[in-house]
Amino acid sequence: MTAKEKIEELRIELHQHNYKYYTLNAPEISDKEFDDKMRELQELEKQYPEYKDVNSPSMRVGSDINKNFTQVAHKYPMLSLTNTYSVAEVTEFYERTRKALNEDFEICCEMKYDGTSISLTYEDGKLIRAVTRGDGENGDDVTDNVKTIRTIPLILQGNNYPPLFEIRGEILMPWDVFEELNREREAREEALFANPRNAASGTLKLQNSSIVASRKLDAYFYSLLGDNLPCDGHYENLQEAAKWGFKISDLTRKYQTIQSVFDFINYWDVERKNLPVATDGIVLKINNLNQQKNLGFTAKSPRWAIAYKFQAERAVTRLNKVTYQVGRTGAVTPVANLDPVQLSGTIVRRASLHNADIIEGLDLHIGDMVYVEKGGEIIPKITGVDVAARFMIGEKVTFITHCPECGSKLVRYEGESAHYCPNETACPPQIKGKIEHFISRKAMNIDGLGPETVDMLYRQGLIHDTADLYELSIDKLKGLDRMGDKSAENIVNGIAQSKEVPFERIIFALGIRFVGETVAKKIAKAFQDIEELENAAIETLKDIDEVGDKIAQSILEYFKNDTNRKLVDRLKSAGLQLYRSEQDMTGYTNKLAGESIVISGVFSHHSRDEYKEIIEKNGGKSVGSISAKTSFILAGENMGPAKLEKANKLGVKIVSEEAFLERIS
Ligand code: IVH
Repeated sequence: MTAKEKIEELRIELHQHNYKYYTLNAPEISDKEFDDKMRELQELEKQYPEYKDVNSPSMRVGSDINKNFTQVAHKYPMLSLTNTYSVAEVTEFYERTRKALNEDFEICCEMKYDGTSISLTYEDGKLIRAVTRGDGENGDDVTDNVKTIRTIPLILQGNNYPPLFEIRGEILMPWDVFEELNREREAREEALFANPRNAASGTLKLQNSSIVASRKLDAYFYSLLGDNLPCDGHYENLQEAAKWGFKISDLTRKYQTIQSVFDFINYWDVERKNLPVATDGIVLKINNLNQQKNLGFTAKSPRWAIAYKFQAERAVTRLNKVTYQVGRTGAVTPVANLDPVQLSGTIVRRASLHNADIIEGLDLHIGDMVYVEKGGEIIPKITGVDVAARFMIGEKVTFITHCPECGSKLVRYEGESAHYCPNETACPPQIKGKIEHFISRKAMNIDGLGPETVDMLYRQGLIHDTADLYELSIDKLKGLDRMGDKSAENIVNGIAQSKEVPFERIIFALGIRFVGETVAKKIAKAFQDIEELENAAIETLKDIDEVGDKIAQSILEYFKNDTNRKLVDRLKSAGLQLYRSEQDMTGYTNKLAGESIVISGVFSHHSRDEYKEIIEKNGGKSVGSISAKTSFILAGENMGPAKLEKANKLGVKIVSEEAFLERIS
């Protein structure tokens, strides 16, 4: 046998033993035999570097080379799930699906694993890339770290896997590994991980993959993406993936009735405490992939799935004081400072008190024993006071009247529960908050600048608003506290590069209240340049998809303010692309300009969401219900009889899928 053949044989054997040991929990050889084989392979690989293979089982031990992660764009965005804590909303989901599909369907019930998500790409049966979720569109390439996770196959078994596909799942740190790790960290007086989720995501982002290898992460997979998947059902595809070597939960079940779904949920609400890894709910997915396609997606999540989250646990602790935080919009948030307490795996020291009404409603006093819960939000909240435990009553908590940062008198707008500091242009956290938002990844994405540097530059009097950033120079930065030549250069380069950022991201970066990323995109497509937007009438704004009265008013308010107009002028003079470029408009036409279109029925070429996007990209507007103003109905199969009748009555044209595609082609 040649060295090459021996190396190959050992690799196959080790992959097999690895799978049997880690994924099936059924080892066939002793640990010593395994280690001997691994050592033999490593020796041979060292001797014959020409036979190097990035997917060799020896790669699992990691490397101590430090490196930064490369950003990779996801081929399919990594969306999130609609979460609910309410049984009624699960029933609503079921009913909505039943009506939309109008045929039998199965629901796949899965654990909602509480770790950090990962997307793996396999080509010809080999792991080629592992990318974190990141912002859903781009993530970090953590392939080397992921290769150290023993339950993740580097080479697939079987032969019916697609030549190219992605598989997504959750990387987890099992409870026992987490507890052991924290014990070790405590002994070394290092900061503890708050929960297994943070420990898993922190570990995955380590620069040194040999440390990752020692942390014993695990991974469960819950979704396959790609063409030519073996089956029509989500569950069935996962069973195939298990045969290829992936760890697929064997707790997943398929049901036809909502009652069986609830039985499953109720069982695991209690039993999950005995699982080796953290779970925080049950994910319900419509099993059939064609039905999934017909149900489609909202902007953020699939309509064919919902996550039922288990009720948060509650803890009791003492309230020591209330402090107040001022955000970038001037909103003032009261924060309860508590005696540290354990709550669902985390140590809680602070909790949000939301607003003055909530404080009043709780009749809160300093020193009170309070109930803390972790609900859907990451920040825990106070839900009540244990009045019986109040043997000495402390000072009553009353909401502050003046800004803790700049001393301005707080205001409360009609119909709003929050108090605001109105000093938009001179209140430090508002100024800094706006700049931090402006430079953030989804906005201007300015490398080299973070909150600490912003804070320092602000304190040094170098920046008071976002336009000041463009007046910074290496000379001005050099010699500032902890600022080397290299950092100064990075900052100035990062700022210069931001001049390439497209119009839509600048609109988002301005930080106009209620104008999020999606709305900013829609606005950018609707106007030639910033002047057009500045002078737009409310009706023009409201004509934009997803812009209602509240957002339109907020845009008007923003541009009514002279300081904001001057700021925008300065940004324009700095060279920012405050206009729509050719590139921004690729794929956009005016073929459906001025048309209001209703989508109805089941389609075969694209999902409803895709049609909605196509309509918008071609200048049309997709509307929900038929009226005399409707231009036509884009009708798939099984259009509802009520809609058909209404369309006939109003004389609205019905256009088939094919005719529509022809028209816009
Ligand atoms: S499906 C389009 N299934 O929950 C949504 N996600 O909010 C695809 N998660 O980022 C996700 N267990 O990290 C799905 N059985 C499961 C899951 C699961 C945990 C996580 C995942 C995702 C988040 C969605």
